[in-house]
Amino acid sequence: MDKEQEIIGLLKTYNQEHIINLLHKLENNEKQDLIKQIEQIDFHQISELYENTKKELEINENKIEKINYIDKQKLNSKELEELENIGDEVLKHGEYAVVTMAGGQGTRLGHTGPKGTFKLDVYGKGKYLFEILVDNLKEANEKYQKVIPWYIMTSKENYEETKNFLNKHHYFGYPQKSVTLFIQGDLPLVDTEGKLLIGKDKKIKEASNGNGGVFYSLRESGILADMKNRNVKWIFIGSVDNAILKMADTSLLGLAIKQNVEIASKSVVKANPKERVGVFCKMNGHPKVIEYTELPEEMAEEKDENGELKYGESHIMCNLFSIDAIEKISKEPLIYHSAFKKNSYINEEGKEIIPKEPNSYKFEAFIFDCFPFFDDMAIIRGKREDDFAPVKNKEGVDSPRTAKELYEKYWERQKRKQGGNN
Ligand code: UD1
Repeated sequence: MDKEQEIIGLLKTYNQEHIINLLHKLENNEKQDLIKQIEQIDFHQISELYENTKKELEINENKIEKINYIDKQKLNSKELEELENIGDEVLKHGEYAVVTMAGGQGTRLGHTGPKGTFKLDVYGKGKYLFEILVDNLKEANEKYQKVIPWYIMTSKENYEETKNFLNKHHYFGYPQKSVTLFIQGDLPLVDTEGKLLIGKDKKIKEASNGNGGVFYSLRESGILADMKNRNVKWIFIGSVDNAILKMADTSLLGLAIKQNVEIASKSVVKANPKERVGVFCKMNGHPKVIEYTELPEEMAEEKDENGELKYGESHIMCNLFSIDAIEKISKEPLIYHSAFKKNSYINEEGKEIIPKEPNSYKFEAFIFDCFPFFDDMAIIRGKREDDFAPVKNKEGVDSPRTAKELYEKYWERQKRKQGGNN
């Protein structure tokens, strides 16, 4: 049987006849491109993911408890110093690396380029989100007299633009040989009948597979091996969109090492039950984050004996992993979540349809779904005004306006602390 017949058989098995029709209509080059793409797709996985969209979430059937954390504010100076000293050693020995997840689309922000290329209007001149991250890494490099290897995950879609932007800005002064870009995986979009969407380019429409794709991509791209060569022991993985993110927080690192765990995370207290953040808990004895899109309302509102939100430790995308933890996670499949979204497509007559209502599912793995692979993790509760200034929405909460205010206030406080020397 030739390759084309094999592909047609596969498409029939998975009820994708509309793609067979498309194949018949295509000229040779386009046909070969589509065949190549089809060969890369795991149709069994996609059909399973589609079937899962029909199932209800079963959070209530699990044993859910509050998670333990250490409140950084409540540590005395000796305790804090102890943690920081432990963390300092790792940085001093160059055993630390940072990964920035920059593959998101930034749709909510209404910015057309990659999110890291968004300029936050701070101090008149403004700073790009990537520039803010570089500032933070440079500060640590200065302190420890080392260069922290920096790995940036992009989507297939925004790789070129990200690379060109960083080149144009000379990596904001970061040593270029210590910066590596890598690309996360994609998954096809499916409609409400489980059919794959076709795009204007006559290919199957795909989208990034979520920030949980980071672990597999780190291994696949050879970065994990590179980290091992550089003797990296701890890896911080953070988002691109927090204007006061601290990527080399030695108290977080010190706590992980002191508690003898392989993963750690920084939280802040959830601002209100409706805040759009994931929350930490323990599920069936393992650490876990429940995403805001999946948290039942009664759990979001539930208070503990002190009158605080029971699930009030927010996941702010400040996650730390030992190299062994990354290796382990990269070999395990993470679950996928589905999001019902509006996606344009080409219909059987070759006409582009731009839907007004959601019409298709996007599948995404979430970074924190690896937490349950571990018996425990360390959590340090930070302070919102020192740790979390997200740039998510065009206006209102978590917008450039709120992030600018938090950023400028944070740096004013730092200047005051340092006696105006900075
Ligand atoms: C995310 C967290 C949420 C947390 C909140 C804090 C997830 C799934 N959710 O929500 O628990 O409380 O941030 O700000 O992590 N990204 C990729 N590839 C992708 C998708 C996202 O690299 O395929 C990156 C984004 O560029 C960004 C980060 O992951 O740096 C967060 O993604 P985003 O979609 O903005 O997540 P939120 O919904 O804000």
